[in-house]
Amino acid sequence: MGNSERIPTHIAIIMDGNGRWAKSLGKERYEGHIEGVNSVRECIKAARRNGVRYLTLYAFSTENWGRPIEEVDALMELFCKSVIAETPELVAQGVRVVMIGRRDRFSERVCSHLQQIEQDTAAGDKLTLVLAFDYSSRDEITTAVRSIAQRVASGEVKVEDICEQTVSENLYTAAIPDPDFIIRTSGECRLSNFLLWQSSYAEMYFPEVMWPDFKQEEFDKALEVYASRERRYGKL
Ligand code: IPE
Ligand code: IPE
Ligand code: MG
Repeated sequence: MGNSERIPTHIAIIMDGNGRWAKSLGKERYEGHIEGVNSVRECIKAARRNGVRYLTLYAFSTENWGRPIEEVDALMELFCKSVIAETPELVAQGVRVVMIGRRDRFSERVCSHLQQIEQDTAAGDKLTLVLAFDYSSRDEITTAVRSIAQRVASGEVKVEDICEQTVSENLYTAAIPDPDFIIRTSGECRLSNFLLWQSSYAEMYFPEVMWPDFKQEEFDKALEVYASRERRYGKL
């Protein structure tokens, strides 16, 4: 395997354990989310340095709306603040930000920050940072099925022409290659409604470390784990 094959083109991360990290240090859960932003910054740099082309971060799931309102508000506020603080550096590093997930349930303020960061970073060509925000994989697939069904009903698409590519093209991730490597921090071994279709042949890695402790060194360790994997795709 050549060196370029050892570096995943697309890494997707379920950033988990912020609350537990904070509690273990006698801090409020919110402080875990704040430190988590520092991990995001470091992982973007590390991805960029290693030639990873796509980095997807699960920042807020559809199910996360079910958390106490104070925590949801704090996460939305942190998102807005981070967009303002990080955009210049992202632009300087050639990072393009793309959002995946529903867009119809955010406040106007969050929506405008979301559009702003996509617009301001649109020219970035070194790394695509995909932020999964109000994202649910089942919701994404259901939306895709609905839109394909509509195109069948209108006569635009024939039933017999529907193939895997049709489904892929109707997901939020239409323009993004499938993830090669999925990392979930905090030792939890589940996908929690993340990239269910796209992850069919992804390698998985579940380090024990909490997200606020997942800095460059942990990122490099994860790349070593990936490089040691043998991907067979059902063949011998
Ligand atoms: C991940 O950390 C961040 C989000 C889900 C937004 P958690 O908030 O889930 O932290 P734990 O899992 O409760 O420790
Ligand atoms: C998954 O983490 C969602 C994000 C990291 C954004 P959760 O902490 O919400 O997932 P569960 O509830 O433990 O499965
Ligand atoms: Mg969690």
